[in-house]
Amino acid sequence: MKKLLVSTGGGDCPGLNAVIRGIVKRASQEQDWEVWGCYEAFNGIMEDPIRVIRLDEKAVAGIHVQGGTILGTTNKGNPMQFPEKQADGTIKKVNRIPWLVERFKSNGFDAIINIGGDGSQAISQALFEAGMPVVGVPKTIDNDLSSTDFTFGFQTAVQTATDSFDRLVTTANSHHRVMIMEVMGRNAGWIALYTAIAGGAEICLIPEIPYDLNKVIEKIESRYNNGRGFVNIVIAEGAMAKNGTITSSKGEEGRTSIRLGGVCFTLSQQLKDAGLEADVRETVLGHTQRGGTPVAFDRVIASVFGVKAMELVLAGKFGRLVVLKNNDFSSVTIKEAISEYNYVDPKGTLVQSAKGLGISFGD
Ligand code: F6P
Repeated sequence: MKKLLVSTGGGDCPGLNAVIRGIVKRASQEQDWEVWGCYEAFNGIMEDPIRVIRLDEKAVAGIHVQGGTILGTTNKGNPMQFPEKQADGTIKKVNRIPWLVERFKSNGFDAIINIGGDGSQAISQALFEAGMPVVGVPKTIDNDLSSTDFTFGFQTAVQTATDSFDRLVTTANSHHRVMIMEVMGRNAGWIALYTAIAGGAEICLIPEIPYDLNKVIEKIESRYNNGRGFVNIVIAEGAMAKNGTITSSKGEEGRTSIRLGGVCFTLSQQLKDAGLEADVRETVLGHTQRGGTPVAFDRVIASVFGVKAMELVLAGKFGRLVVLKNNDFSSVTIKEAISEYNYVDPKGTLVQSAKGLGISFGD
């Protein structure tokens, strides 16, 4: 019997459980593969004793509708830069990939499916280069992986953000206020852009188009109509003013990336400092966008990704990532998938259409 290990790494995302279920269901149609889940990304296999769980059809029954991941996850302790305490008490970052490959092999695993975003797929590639048979599945609400039309989790995040946006519109209208709603997305403005179009925002601010505060104020004033109107703004967490800086904090020890968040307060303060008289209120949607049950579209693509990932394992096609490209499911090399970040194209159809709808990007 061959043993497959499945791990979910980085931030969680609606649809992770549907991928796990897809892998297990497809594997159960074969005689010679059994599936195991690794707890908290690769932590489960790095610990002694290892923390893994046998995943059979019973273990995954009905989980495709559940948010989060039954395996748990973490965005700390990247094995490529593992924080190791030295004798003198200092922390040194070490590459534990060769050791990790050894751990997989000595524990009898024959292949891995790693479900994760760009950071996790960089780990997949390092494992593959070190001799581990790896298949990747693209996960993230940010939709920032360039090789796939959509990552699973993105549609759910957009739906959650749009539902919240709709609620903010009615209260903005009642009180004649300017509402700023901050969404996630890291350095890509996809969630903000889709939400702004779906919700009918007046202003959408994204990292790819640094905003001119005067242009933002001009748009607000044209709609605010001396206190008789109202304005709804969607701002991506990675957005910034022209010549400004990104709003971020260092975050917890062991993280490899900075922590974004709070830009709606930065913008609110900028508007006040510029003398805007309107009542401004800020809403940070935060992790509501990552939680809860996946919408149907995400369940579908996550389930298909799971099946296709297992089929890559069965075919011995390792070092590859399953993708949805041009409305079809296929795969690309993980190396290719992580080589380019998926930014919103300021000249692309979506931004131009949003402008056609009267949405200002502050440019
Ligand atoms: O990558 C997904 C994401 O939700 C980003 O949109 C956000 O910046 C980040 O993760 C938040 O990470 P954490 O949950 O560690 O605060």
